[in-house]
Amino acid sequence: MYYIGIDLGTSSVKLLLLGDEGVQNIVTREYAVSYPKAGWSEQSPEDWLRETLSGIKELTRDIDKKLVKGIGIGGQMHGLVMLDENDDVIRPAILWNDTRTQKETDHLNNVIGKKRLVDLTGNIAFAGFTAPKIMWVRDNEPENFGRISKIMLPKDYIVYKLTGKHCTDVSDASGMLLLDVHSRRWSEEMLKITGIKESQLPKLYESYEVVGQLTEETAKELGFGEVNVAAGAGDNAAAAIGTGTVKNGDCNISLGTSGTVFVACANYKADYENAIHNFCHANGAYHYMACMLSAASCNKWWLEDIIGTDDYTEAYADYDIYKDNGLIFLPYMMGERSPHNDSEIRGMFYGLGMSTTRKDMSVAVLEGVAFALRQNIDIIKKMGIDIKKSRICGGGTKNKLWLKIIASVLNIELEVPENQEGASFGAALLAAKGSSEADYKKAMDDIKIKEVIKPDSRLAEKYNGKYELFVKLYPAVKGAISK
Ligand code: XUL
Repeated sequence: MYYIGIDLGTSSVKLLLLGDEGVQNIVTREYAVSYPKAGWSEQSPEDWLRETLSGIKELTRDIDKKLVKGIGIGGQMHGLVMLDENDDVIRPAILWNDTRTQKETDHLNNVIGKKRLVDLTGNIAFAGFTAPKIMWVRDNEPENFGRISKIMLPKDYIVYKLTGKHCTDVSDASGMLLLDVHSRRWSEEMLKITGIKESQLPKLYESYEVVGQLTEETAKELGFGEVNVAAGAGDNAAAAIGTGTVKNGDCNISLGTSGTVFVACANYKADYENAIHNFCHANGAYHYMACMLSAASCNKWWLEDIIGTDDYTEAYADYDIYKDNGLIFLPYMMGERSPHNDSEIRGMFYGLGMSTTRKDMSVAVLEGVAFALRQNIDIIKKMGIDIKKSRICGGGTKNKLWLKIIASVLNIELEVPENQEGASFGAALLAAKGSSEADYKKAMDDIKIKEVIKPDSRLAEKYNGKYELFVKLYPAVKGAISK
């Protein structure tokens, strides 16, 4: 029996084939992001679909396709996809890291009010969330707004094309600011505030529920028999399933384009104070999450675009990690979500001197992301959640030095699961759960930890001092640039 897990990411779609013997194949297909204006970030849903379908064909090329039993999909969250009455995409999708909606976000937080928003949805408004995007289209592209027949999130577009079902799951829907997270139902009042009707929204499912089967046409194109498609999950909830982050208090850090700290919670508890998300988990429970807009993308930008290398090993070779490079990097390349909720702030290096080397700067980028993770974890700890260790997944974990830095900055042990494809693996597990509880249980029981990274006490001490300065820099810069 085979299950396919899809992770519809920002730079690529990753596809994973889970068989009786574990992970059998992995395929990655890239696509472009366009940045038409400062702070805007868009993608073509048709590109996602094309690459996903051709990726599935490559993934299953050498197996008996009739043995594929289920498909699950995790996807980049919050993106706005709109279809017209002919099912055509109305405009490019507006992505999770697009920050054009500050005005709408401010209106929601200040006029509707944060307390009311938390009462209705469990969350305050962030520029990346879907509701402010819908309001932006309503106010800036009224013609497009008038043509909306269906609204969906990125992965839901793929599910729709695979099954013909207009649906979403509660973990991904949590990031729309339209869902009452506590009751796992659409909030009528939020629909009124954004000006949309429930008939334009997808039907809600738990992440592991089967929403339907592949359409005959798609099954034929792929050479499959009858295949169940699960509702799927937001990529972070899917990654949490994939790393076994399911019990109350379990923590997972994801080092992808974004950086997230994900804490599983057995019960719902509203939090009125912080810039931390309060969402439904893909296992039927809840989770808290802090999301940094730029994590591994800072490193990629610095090494590939600025230094001009893709040799990530050479970039830090022979570096004396104990030396004080005197540098602090603020990783706010696209503004920042958690904890600042500030779409205007931008990144910076502080502390450049005549003795600063290229390697100092490369290492400072890794440290800056680690400090930002710590700031979020400190806020979560203040909410009464004790984080003593964390799992970690995502592309950034290939960088061993970075793992050592993060473990030391956070001063906790990091567990690296054998399977680093957090979200696509989790999506395959959701597909398994939807079709066969026994297959799901077996795969969950098989999750193994490959390596435990322990904090280095000398480094941890050095980083405590640097972290204090890191925390002071954001308010200082913000104060200086505020009009
Ligand atoms: C989470 C978030 C990002 C995207 C990245 O709130 O916005 O992690 O899901 O794909």
